[in-house]
Amino acid sequence: MTLHETYLQLESTCATTIDVGLAIEGYNDRKLLTWDSVEHSISLWFAFVGGADYIGFNLCLQAILVSGIWCSYSQGCCHQEAVKMTGKESQIPLLTPYKMGKFELSHRVVLAPLTRQRSYGNVPQPHAILYYSQRTTKGGLLISEATGVSDTAQGYPDTPGIWTKEQIEAWKPIVDAVHAKGGIFFCQIWHAGRVSNSGFQPNGQAPISSSEKELANQVQSNDNDVERFTPPRKLTTEEIPLVVDDFRVAARNAIDAGFDGVEIHGAHGYLIDQFMKDEINDRTDQYGGSLENRCRFALEIIDAIVKEIGADKVGIRLSPFANYMESGDSNPKALGLYMAESLSEYKILYCHMVEPRMKYVDEKVDCPHSLVPMRKAFKGTFISAGGYEMEDGNNVVVENRTDLVAYGRLFLANPDLPKRFELNAPLNKYNRDMFYTSDPVIGYTDYPFLETAV
Ligand SMILES: Cc1cc2nc3c(=O)[nH]c(=O)nc-3n(C[C@H](O)[C@H](O)[C@H](O)COP(=O)(O)O)c2cc1C
Repeated sequence: MTLHETYLQLESTCATTIDVGLAIEGYNDRKLLTWDSVEHSISLWFAFVGGADYIGFNLCLQAILVSGIWCSYSQGCCHQEAVKMTGKESQIPLLTPYKMGKFELSHRVVLAPLTRQRSYGNVPQPHAILYYSQRTTKGGLLISEATGVSDTAQGYPDTPGIWTKEQIEAWKPIVDAVHAKGGIFFCQIWHAGRVSNSGFQPNGQAPISSSEKELANQVQSNDNDVERFTPPRKLTTEEIPLVVDDFRVAARNAIDAGFDGVEIHGAHGYLIDQFMKDEINDRTDQYGGSLENRCRFALEIIDAIVKEIGADKVGIRLSPFANYMESGDSNPKALGLYMAESLSEYKILYCHMVEPRMKYVDEKVDCPHSLVPMRKAFKGTFISAGGYEMEDGNNVVVENRTDLVAYGRLFLANPDLPKRFELNAPLNKYNRDMFYTSDPVIGYTDYPFLETAV
């Protein structure tokens, strides 16, 4: 049996073989394996178990990886990569370097975007200099908290914006501090859409959305505060290009503030997601109905920003499987795939996806879905996020199911997270009650570093 036939037979035995395939391909891409060594491993395994079943298959993967790495190393094939894997980093795949476009990342532990609601009056504050700089490493990638693109974009108190001169100026020292330590800093640009209320809107007007569907009030993740929403106003077809333009200008402003690029917030039930997800979007114009129509708004934003600042500075965050803020979709896999394929055509730098297990805010759920099809479909850098700890972060990198892993709550509470991973040191626990309070220090910049932790 040829390798290809073997592989097809294995793939037909269970859904997870796609992971295996990707892992094999990943190793092969990086020239850690020769196909011969893969074939050898598979046939060894077949000889051992006399067939492939689910458990056998996972063991088979391990056999392939272990023997493949060993083969390529011992045969001196592509010894540079193999030598890397035998060094200190071999135990810590998250801490291996990665080239993301023109950015030389020294490791793969990314600071996920984290709203902290400490930007009084929507203006970034000096205390953010310390906060972001604490979480900066030389060659590390940081993504800023969600940052409003216009005066209609806010849905929470004291979230930062990037549509006024004052806001741009206020971001500059924060970005400079990250750069001074060698970090790479992307600004997450955002519009909350209907996840807002008239109190956050100019002249007390209704928040805008793809629909007039109202959102039920929600208890915040600190279990105390209740978010109250007022009925949204459906954007007219003619108004949509104006909002697209707000994103374009915000991206330009972010570059002017010194950011290395922007991440478009297309996740978690906010405005862009309100267009993409069929449980919200009930439009009958060219922005509603078919998958292509529902993704049009997101792709027009991509197009405008790519033209404005260049595809090499553009990423997007998507959460096709999540249904935060009542933003479910009847076919999240098709949505994720369509977006991954379309984004590839724009050649944007990265696609950042939230794991299907983060269907609900905060907690992981058991889930049969995976991001692997989207990872395969997207041609640029892939970032995975959602519920990661060190071990599964290392695994997802080793298995080539992602390039980078974004950490939210663990990074919030551990400013030196990559160092702690390197040393396998204990982690500080995060304090949920302080996620969204306005204190400039407590629960913000006072999480201890390893050296000072008791
Ligand atoms: C306090 C807090 C604020 C968050 N703010 C944002 C945000 O501004 N933009 C965003 O895309 N996701 C936001 N998220 C989601 C995180 O980026 C991340 O996807 C989520 O916490 C799951 O990852 P984790 O398990 O590593 O924390 C936030 C999460 C938390 C806990």
